[in-house]
Order: sequence, then structure tokens, then C-alpha cells
Amino acid sequence: MSRHYSIALDGPSGAGKSTIAKAIAKDYGFIYLDTGAMYRSFALYALNSGVDFSGAISDRGNDKALIALLDSFTLDVRYVDGVQRVFVGGEDYTDLIRTSEVTRAASAVAVVSAVRIRMVKLQRKIAEDADVVMDGRDIGTYVLPNASVKIFITASALARARRRYRELIGKGDGSRTFEQVYADMIERDKNDSSRSFAPLARAEDAALLDTTDLDLQQSIDAVRAIIDSRIVRESSGSPA
Ligand code: DC
Repeated sequence: MSRHYSIALDGPSGAGKSTIAKAIAKDYGFIYLDTGAMYRSFALYALNSGVDFSGAISDRGNDKALIALLDSFTLDVRYVDGVQRVFVGGEDYTDLIRTSEVTRAASAVAVVSAVRIRMVKLQRKIAEDADVVMDGRDIGTYVLPNASVKIFITASALARARRRYRELIGKGDGSRTFEQVYADMIERDKNDSSRSFAPLARAEDAALLDTTDLDLQQSIDAVRAIIDSRIVRESSGSPA
């Protein structure tokens, strides 16, 4: 069992996980692992290799082209000034994986069990070597079942779509209407929750935090309170 602390933050997209995770990691001096960036990296690698993502995402469970691509895929997660960067075949993908095209493809590659197994191996290795805050969909249920603290962060689909839309507009990306962003969000929720292997789910022992009516600072404070109550209670000695 790991001698390090691990904090598992799971939930649907747009619930605020990554922003909260970054703030918490900084506060506690843990590293932050954005596991979505790993699926996004493989998705971009697949797009660059000519994989066509136009079909139904749910049909991809055993996608042979994607499984074959894993042979040549090398992913490196590095920390530069405390900030995570992802490298594929030595190329820095960090700033290239936030497009709508990659977002959709990431949800598709995440359905493939062989892809998940590869990512999970690396995620567990990182958690073995350092105190981590990890965010994703299956961290508390599958990747780190013995995490020191598990929190499932959610919000209504409407609130999450509003946040994502504001984020895009803030980045100067007006390519999608609010209705499209909302529809994408619903589709992604469905794909992420309905896949058969390690779907998005709340672990039985995860605290539930609904951020629909909370601003960012309130959400961070709520997460901090949960972590402090659980870590203090469980670790008068060394971490679990
Ligand atoms: O968190 P994100 O939006 O960057 O994630 C991109 C996609 O990757 C998302 O649709 C689901 C998938 N994902 C996953 O299946 N498991 C994880 N632990 C993290 C992300």
C-alpha cells in the first residue's frame, strides 16, 4: 500500500474538478494529476494518425485501430515549475489537447479498455511515488480504491454547460453556441457513465459535493473541509 496521501476527485465534466484540484494541490503541497489530459493526449495522437472519430462513440469498445496505436504511443507526464505537462513521443501536447475535436475524441478513446489499462498503470505509478490530487472519472472506484480521501464533485448539467461556455468565450473561442456546448456535455456524460469498463461513478465511500450553487472559492473551501476531516480522522499515524 502506498505511503503517500492520495486525494481522488471524480465527477462529470464542468463540475469544477480541475480548478479545485489545482488549488488544493498547491495548498497541501501535493502534485496534481489531470488524468483527462492523458486520454486527451491519446485522442490527439489518434487524430494525428488519421483515426476517424465521426461514428458513434459507444461502438468503439474494441476498436482495433486504437488498440494497435497503443504500441507506438509513448506518454510522459512531467512537472515544469509544479505544472503538469504531457509529452507524446517527446512532443509537448499540453497546449494542443483542449480543442472541441480532441474533447470528443477523448471521450471515445476512453471507452476502450486497453487504453484505460495503459493510462491507469501510469496513474498508479505516479500515486505510488508522490502525494497526489488526482482528478478524473474512475479514480475513487478503480484507479485508487484505497485513496486517502475520495470526493465526487458534481453540478447540474445546465450549470456545467454554462461554465464551459463561459470558459470558451473567455478563451476567445466563439465557434460553438451555448446549445451545442450543452448538447456536447449531455453526450459526454452519457458516454462516460455508460461505458462498461470503469465508468464515471461515485465510489460508495466518496463524499458528495454539488457545486451548482457554489462559486469557486466556496467549492474549494468545501473540498478542503472534507479533506481535513477525513485525513485528520484517519491518520493520527501514517497515511493509508
Ligand atoms: O476531464 P476531461 O474533460 O479532460 O476528460 C476528457 C475525457 O477523458 C472525458 O470525456 C472522459 C475521459 N476520462 C476518463 O474516462 N477517465 C478519466 N479518469 C479521465 C478522463
